[in-house]
Amino acid sequence: MRPEKSATEETRAESAVALESLTRRFGDITAVDSISLEISYGEIFGLLGPNGAGKSTTIKILTTLLEKNSGSARVAGFDVAEEPSEVRNQIGYVPQALSADGGLTAWENLTLTAKLYDIPARERAPRINDTLGFIGLAEFADRLVKTFSGGMIRRLELAMAMLHRPRILFLDEPTIGLDPVAKRAMWEKLLELKKGYGMTILLTTHDMDEADLLCDRLAIMHKGRITASGTPAGLKASVGEGATLEDVFARYSKGVMTEGGSYRDVRQARRTLNRLG
Ligand SMILES: Nc1ncnc2c1ncn2[C@@H]1O[C@H](COP(=O)(O)OP(=O)(O)O)[C@@H](O)[C@H]1O
Ligand SMILES: [Mg+2]
Repeated sequence: MRPEKSATEETRAESAVALESLTRRFGDITAVDSISLEISYGEIFGLLGPNGAGKSTTIKILTTLLEKNSGSARVAGFDVAEEPSEVRNQIGYVPQALSADGGLTAWENLTLTAKLYDIPARERAPRINDTLGFIGLAEFADRLVKTFSGGMIRRLELAMAMLHRPRILFLDEPTIGLDPVAKRAMWEKLLELKKGYGMTILLTTHDMDEADLLCDRLAIMHKGRITASGTPAGLKASVGEGATLEDVFARYSKGVMTEGGSYRDVRQARRTLNRLG
């Protein structure tokens, strides 16, 4: 038994994110219902699911902003409940709701973030310049954020989340409400972060093209549970030949297990659930 246990612990330490039977209730609602998943370093992992599925609640627990009821969650090897400061040092977070201050310039927003994260005074300006350059906002540094387009604001929020150079980014609907051009600009940046910097990213999205293009693996959440997970290609294949990610989403967010479906459907859904242990 012992060697097996230490092998499991080793695997867990190597994961960027490891959830085991994570559960969070709000009154009668179980927002996150005993979910388990692992995300490797360098992966872009997508959390998909209809509104109310529990995606934001999961992210808030992982970013130490909300307490779990039971189960465990480790981020960069640290337990979110036991070692929240260590977790916070390792992560960046772009919340679903607006987090940049419209009454300040981009530069001022980033300076506030730099102070919040204790970035030494002499490092602040070069770090902010670098980050603004990376995100394509260098020429807008001194403009008030309320004059920015939605895409520029979302990119600034990404800059704020990565200023302290975290290893893992949590992005809650990073492209919601953006036009196709702005979406594409965000996608490029996220792929650059993964390829150029080996960044690990957990994002939520309703955009199936985005999930298909960006995500190495994804999980579909429905009513607090993970109903399917795998690579985009693997999930499509599990639904049938020629299936799109939209078909996958429809299948696994309606609960094929309870609503019937063919024997093959049920068997495959069960296999997916078994894989999740
Ligand atoms: N602070 C809260 N108080 C009460 N219920 C909440 C709270 N936050 C989320 N919920 C409920 O938990 C469920 C999951 O919400 P959420 O995690 O925001 O879902 P998603 O991000 O997938 O849309 C929903 O039923 C929501 O109404
Ligand atoms: Mg949400």
